[in-house]
Amino acid sequence: MKIAVLGYGVVGSGVVELMHKNPESINAKAGTDIEIKYILDIRDFDDSPFKNLFTKDFNVILNDPEIDVVVEVIGGLNPAYRFVKDSLLAGKSVVTSNKELVSVYGDELLQIAKDNNKNFLFEASVGGGIPIIRPINQCLAANEIESISGILNGTTNFILTKMVKEGYSFEDALKTAQQLGYAEANPAADIEGIDSCRKIAILASLAYGEHVNPDKVHTEGITEIKLEDIRHADKMGYAVKLLGTIRKNDDNTLFIMVAPFLVEKSIPLSGVEDVYNAILVEGDAVGISLFYGRGAGKLPTASAVVADVIDCAKHIKARKYLYWKSSDGSFIEDYKKMLCKRYVRFDGGVTCTDIRETFTDAQCTEEDGSLVFITSDMNEYDFDKALASLESKCASTAAAVIRVFSI
Ligand code: HSE
Repeated sequence: MKIAVLGYGVVGSGVVELMHKNPESINAKAGTDIEIKYILDIRDFDDSPFKNLFTKDFNVILNDPEIDVVVEVIGGLNPAYRFVKDSLLAGKSVVTSNKELVSVYGDELLQIAKDNNKNFLFEASVGGGIPIIRPINQCLAANEIESISGILNGTTNFILTKMVKEGYSFEDALKTAQQLGYAEANPAADIEGIDSCRKIAILASLAYGEHVNPDKVHTEGITEIKLEDIRHADKMGYAVKLLGTIRKNDDNTLFIMVAPFLVEKSIPLSGVEDVYNAILVEGDAVGISLFYGRGAGKLPTASAVVADVIDCAKHIKARKYLYWKSSDGSFIEDYKKMLCKRYVRFDGGVTCTDIRETFTDAQCTEEDGSLVFITSDMNEYDFDKALASLESKCASTAAAVIRVFSI
């Protein structure tokens, strides 16, 4: 079976490296010899041992009937969307690690793959090397999925860990993540939560069978998180993590959001550090399952891409069932209606008595001249109203508000 790799960046070079590292076992598992016939990239790689495979012309690949599988690891929408769509329409299977592409156009591309009896596989698009697409699609298929919550971005988890554990500045931690090949081309996508948003949108589409466009997902990043809040949280028994979270309501609507959360140290997500990702999936039959591993980086991501290539080889005639339908997203509920506790910090102007007059169940403590407290479960409308009343009564403004995660 002959394949083409589109893009020779971090992931693309990892795919080529891995295919040449373990060829016997890969070919044995695929049941056929897999050969990389082309690598597409606009740059020159004259010193590469694979220099004879490079082309700058996608049409060479598209028009070559020997190419059964196209591996798209360029990232972004342009030109990836056109290349993937044209490949599927030309009767080739496609494997991609491109979360932006899958989250925005997944419904359309899955439909084209279905119409052409080809595979469109994207295990690497969520959680890097962690198996999560297949488990949700296949292994947990007997369950109603009640909730999914996870650390879905390696770069931000790496930054938070380095800042807390090793005293890195935000900028130095981000620079190191970029050097290690974890960050997006524009790292704003990582730190502003956009990458996690795309990934939770893919998981929601997969788990509930209807397309969730990322623009329907309320998204906050880690740029407003202060080291002092991480330290207060730590003393109170919590870690601060950027989470993507989905909760199914009784009426089958979903709460979906990406935001920083305080995670109690008894919950395994709190101990997930560095580039690692972890995803808790709650099914009505299985209960809670935890998927953990390296969420970004060259070979972990290539591991998931090559596994999809092997699956394409094994299912070259029989399409794997992976599908969700288009949707207007009307089943996504207003995130502000979701009940949750909140951590709040004031740097002066209020007393614990003031706080308890408004937030009656709040556990208030004094920490290094600040007052911090955790509210009871409230929806965001009620919380905003209560906080505004406390702020106006005391003529003081909260310095930080962070949601508290609960399973
Ligand atoms: N920038 C992404 C991350 C890469 O840090 O998780 C893997 O999708």
